[in-house]
Amino acid sequence: MPTTTERAVLRDALTRALRAPSEHNAQPWRWVLGRDHLDLFVDRTRRLRFTDERGHGVLLGCGCALHHLRVALADRGWHASVRHQPEDLSGRPLARVRIRPATGEPDPWAHRHAAAIDRRHTDRRRFSGRSVPTTVMQSLDDAARPHGGVLHLAFGTHRALVAEAMAEAAERQPRQEGYVEELEHWTHRYAGAHDGIPAHARLDGPPPSYRDLVLRWFPPGTLRQPRGGADRRDASVLAILTAVDDSPVSVLRAGEALSAVLLEATAQGLGSTPITQVLGVSQTRERLRHLVGAHRPPVCVLRLGWPEPLGEPLRPTPRRPLEQVLTEVE
Ligand SMILES: Cc1cc2nc3c(=O)[nH]c(=O)nc-3n(C[C@H](O)[C@H](O)[C@H](O)COP(=O)(O)O)c2cc1C
Repeated sequence: MPTTTERAVLRDALTRALRAPSEHNAQPWRWVLGRDHLDLFVDRTRRLRFTDERGHGVLLGCGCALHHLRVALADRGWHASVRHQPEDLSGRPLARVRIRPATGEPDPWAHRHAAAIDRRHTDRRRFSGRSVPTTVMQSLDDAARPHGGVLHLAFGTHRALVAEAMAEAAERQPRQEGYVEELEHWTHRYAGAHDGIPAHARLDGPPPSYRDLVLRWFPPGTLRQPRGGADRRDASVLAILTAVDDSPVSVLRAGEALSAVLLEATAQGLGSTPITQVLGVSQTRERLRHLVGAHRPPVCVLRLGWPEPLGEPLRPTPRRPLEQVLTEVE
């Protein structure tokens, strides 16, 4: 049975893990705090049936939440041992977490990543013309690897092919059954909803395209492009995050890798946009898989760049309160 202290530690870490990113901000996680462990479940009612046909998005979102939880625990001096389990129809959890006070060397990532949790936001605006050094990209790959993720940089011809596939997906996906209705649902939530993509996170102008990149179209919101920037050139780079394989455990772990990359990018001052539209369309997904090779399935494309210094600060998107996602079993 977790002691009163452990329960308080877990509740505190879970509160911080609520800030994890998820596709359309659907927050597809559910936690159960039991007698001697914490369980993570997928909330299937929050699956994007038409946008994410294969159900990878929910696993990635849950993986991000799990990584945020671990980081928050480590930051407070607790070690989490996590058992990942393949999901099955008997309602088993995706992961089971037990904690104990950390001993030995402190986790070198924990503090900087924990400090980045509240500063990380998806940024869909133009980034500055300052280029992102390869050494920085290398450090993001280093953050992904302990979780089984690998970050493949897309430069030159590779980038052009990824950009082409993204443009095709942006064209095709809105024609797929149910996609537009799902997008409407998650961008026009009822007053008081604590999920979805609010107007302040959506650009106020036409569909964004930066150099050769076409991003997912969202209904126009109120977010303005930064005014500054002498040449108005977006020097963002693209990277493809891959998983070990397509199994649910691997995709869940890739979600942890995605969180690690996003938090490390934030810690270094980079802005980021996770991009999965290109993986939501079978034709473009296959092209990306072929491009990466190495028998590792791509799970997310990342756009990374330095924010324009004169851009307005991004506001946090909403999250459901802890009581809505946590059940405590005495
Ligand atoms: C698995 C995953 C896929 C996502 N796909 C996209 C995408 O294709 N385009 C996009 O603009 N944002 C995408 N996002 C960003 C989410 O919309 C964003 O995380 C969510 O709205 C919460 O906002 P925040 O990241 O600012 O906290 C994705 C995020 C995750 C975790």
